Amino acid sequence: SVANSTNIFWHECPIGKVDREKLLNQQGCVVWITGLSGSGKSTLACSLDRQLHSRGKLSYVLDGDNLRHGLNKNLGFSPEHRVENIRRVGEVAKLFADAGLICIASLISPYRKDRDACRALLSEENFIEVFLNMPLELCEGRDPKGLYKLARAGKIKGFTGIDDPYEPPLSCEIELQQKDGICPTPTEMAGEVVTYLEDKG
Ligand code: PPS
Repeated sequence: SVANSTNIFWHECPIGKVDREKLLNQQGCVVWITGLSGSGKSTLACSLDRQLHSRGKLSYVLDGDNLRHGLNKNLGFSPEHRVENIRRVGEVAKLFADAGLICIASLISPYRKDRDACRALLSEENFIEVFLNMPLELCEGRDPKGLYKLARAGKIKGFTGIDDPYEPPLSCEIELQQKDGICPTPTEMAGEVVTYLEDKG
């Protein structure tokens, strides 16, 4: 359990988000990538990061798996811990966006309520939810870390898509999926996100 702070006060700094954005010539925002394990979130995040970098835009990737090595190392995969995981990353992403960066958060974030709570932390135009909608069979077929195999064998309990739910977005800014049974490349999908960001300024 986390104790609530009392007797705390907000201190306003004279330099704000808009000042930093002017300096960076960009708009701080959060691109939130959600999808099953093995759907290609991290690859997409890195490809997007690279494309933005080459356009002179400052971005930063918050990867679920990576953050669990540090900031979130005390969290597991129970529903309560996943809720706390997403809450923390949502707060960190908000700070990055406030710093003026294009923050790319890449987490399974399986529960709709938690993603919506992150959205609510930011103004509507600063939260871009990207649903990497790849079929479970494809993700399981890839199984890059062998985790689906362990989950099917009952050696991992509460694995997303197997015995823990994934709740797809009801509405999101960008949905990426196979076309005619063919999966677009990470470069193509990242390109789609970049185009969206450019169109929105
Ligand atoms: S979550 O649900 O958003 O809190 O998960 P996240 O922080 O993105 O971490 C997902 C990675 O953790 C590994 N892993 C599991 N995933 C799902 N369910 C269970 N039980 C589990 N145990 C370990 C897995 O490698 C995920 O990596 P990705 O990159 O998504 O494939």
